[in-house]
Amino acid sequence: MERTLIMVKPDGVQRGLIGEIMTRFEKKGLQLVGAKFMLVSEELAETHYAEHKGKPFYEKLITFITGGPVFAMIWEADNVIALTRAMIGKTDAVEAAPGTIRSDYAVHTNLNLIHGSDSPDNAEREISLWFTPEEIVSYERTL
Ligand code: CMP
Repeated sequence: MERTLIMVKPDGVQRGLIGEIMTRFEKKGLQLVGAKFMLVSEELAETHYAEHKGKPFYEKLITFITGGPVFAMIWEADNVIALTRAMIGKTDAVEAAPGTIRSDYAVHTNLNLIHGSDSPDNAEREISLWFTPEEIVSYERTL
């Protein structure tokens, strides 16, 4: 079973899209095992986006992600990383396929609503960055 770190970014929170995004993942059949509404510290933002340091959009990205609350989640399922990335759509909203979250709700690359881990290594790294082990609630479905 695979896990991924999903984060509704400040633009998604402020546009009232947390519920819509969670509904899509729930209806797909993914299992929620962690969630929290939080402000992102400079330190967390810089560690999370370390691979983008030095790129032209980096400073704006850090300002944006620390500028308002986000909703961070961990979702679990077989192939959950590929599944959620397919549902989220490409970074550039123009290239995101119709029916994806970014195609349906985003206009700009820098206001693209949601983050999803892009590989098993990054998912593991990001989950341990954003959540403590105690905040992850793993369970068997019985109902
Ligand atoms: P994400 O894929 O979650 O992680 C990197 C983020 O940088 C990306 O989403 C966008 O929000 C932001 N970004 C802003 N401008 C660009 C750009 N030109 N190319 C890629 N990412 C960008």
